Amino acid sequence: MEALHLTILFFLSLTLAHSLSSNCDLPSQGPTLRVYHVSSPCSPFRPKNALSWEESVLQMQADDKTRLVYLTSLAVGRSFVPIASGRQIIQSPTYIVKVNIGTPAQSMLMALDTSTDMALIPSVGCVGCTSVMYDSAKSQSFSSLACGADQCKQVQTTSCLGTTCSLNMTYGGSTIAANLATDNVTLATDSVVGYSFGSIKNVAGGSFPPQGVLGLGRGPLSFVSQSKTLYKSTFSYCLPSFKSSNFSGTLRLGPIAQPIKINYTPLLVNPRRTSLYYVNLLGIKVGSKVVNIPPSALAFNPNTGGGTIIDSGTVFTRLIDGAYTAVRDEFRRRMGKAVVSSLGGFDTCYTVPITKQIPSMTFMFPGLNMSLPQDNFLIHSSSGSTTCLAMSSSPALNVIANMQQQNHRVLFDIPNSRLGISREICS
Ligand SMILES: *[C@@H]1O[C@H](CO)[C@@H](O)[C@H](O)[C@H]1NC(C)=O
Ligand SMILES: *[C@@H]1O[C@H](CO)[C@@H](O)[C@H](O)[C@H]1NC(C)=O
Ligand SMILES: *[C@@H]1O[C@H](CO)[C@@H](O)[C@H](O)[C@H]1NC(C)=O
Ligand SMILES: *[C@@H]1O[C@H](CO)[C@@H](O)[C@H](O)[C@H]1NC(C)=O
Repeated sequence: MEALHLTILFFLSLTLAHSLSSNCDLPSQGPTLRVYHVSSPCSPFRPKNALSWEESVLQMQADDKTRLVYLTSLAVGRSFVPIASGRQIIQSPTYIVKVNIGTPAQSMLMALDTSTDMALIPSVGCVGCTSVMYDSAKSQSFSSLACGADQCKQVQTTSCLGTTCSLNMTYGGSTIAANLATDNVTLATDSVVGYSFGSIKNVAGGSFPPQGVLGLGRGPLSFVSQSKTLYKSTFSYCLPSFKSSNFSGTLRLGPIAQPIKINYTPLLVNPRRTSLYYVNLLGIKVGSKVVNIPPSALAFNPNTGGGTIIDSGTVFTRLIDGAYTAVRDEFRRRMGKAVVSSLGGFDTCYTVPITKQIPSMTFMFPGLNMSLPQDNFLIHSSSGSTTCLAMSSSPALNVIANMQQQNHRVLFDIPNSRLGISREICS
């Protein structure tokens, strides 16, 4: 009974799957596509057996841990990184979007990843892939890329397999062997002809998104760069809340139909990790108090890759030790005498009602302050008996994760080197 009570709301809502399925195949409207949470009734990847709330939180934390190792190890000149040890978990992509590949079109539900460049697509014959695969033999517009191709030179650590450009790399906790190929890729209404991607032949390690990854990073092979003439390297998303039963958010491509009233902060390029979207986090407010964070914890550092990124694939925000401790301590101080417990990587949980004391939280950037609604920094068991501050510390990089971004429009305007954020309810 207790386990049932603890089941997080979004898993309970899965029982609605059938009644909602008619909503799942809504066509894109112009350049606006649906984005689904992986646990959405519309997602084929939702857990078959409802996990308890604790299990689901622990799993998301474990996924994040693997991802953080991956993100911090991304560095120019390397695409192969050591895999984190620890228990093998099925890493779920958090948000997925429908992508059409080839002629005639084959549909895949791919994970949105703003910190990866090249799309990675499981292909027929793949060893270790677990879901729908793309069949190049059925596409009239497919071609493989030879070793001499420009795209092959844009990816580090490629090698020649016969005449085909191939590579081994890691993604999160998985190792991947892929061949470079091109085909038409359609996200909204327009096709990107001759789109280059990694056609996956082998996956090991068990943490790869089942139908592949759509890279929205800033490198040359990302969707953002390859669709530049069509969408001017501009996109935005609104990620739906974890808790809502109406799960679809939107991915909007191109400068048209983007919000006009939105505040911007500059995007920074870090030469150590050129794919990632860095911003300048100036400080964090808990309640009305700007907490005292050592400047080094927030500093943008081109030599070490230090600083703050905004990422669609990490679930819970990570702050470098000094920053996290300062935020957490101020939060705890506001909670007064309430007894603190922990849950996995969260060290600030309460099992008594705390609604009255909860302070606001604001991330401050040059040009904009992002005020987080409570749902974006607290995670509650569905019975309300446990509440945790949904952030934790990080060894080397501050990551503004997707839970903290939910129900906001986040606009990546690369030509103008700026990131826009405004509140938008899309659940
Ligand atoms: C796909 O690309 C080919 C060129 O390779 C082009 O002729 C064809 O029209 C494209 N198909 C679609 C659906 O855009
Ligand atoms: C890439 O991985 C495959 C196994 O999937 C292996 O056979 C091959 O030798 C590797 N290639 C390189 C260059 O490491
Ligand atoms: C949410 O559900 C309502 C009907 O309940 C529907 O009108 C609306 O379009 C849905 N929103 C999204 C973003 O799917
Ligand atoms: C953000 O909040 C801080 C502290 O309250 C304030 O000084 C600053 O002007 C605000 N910035 C913006 C862009 O509103």
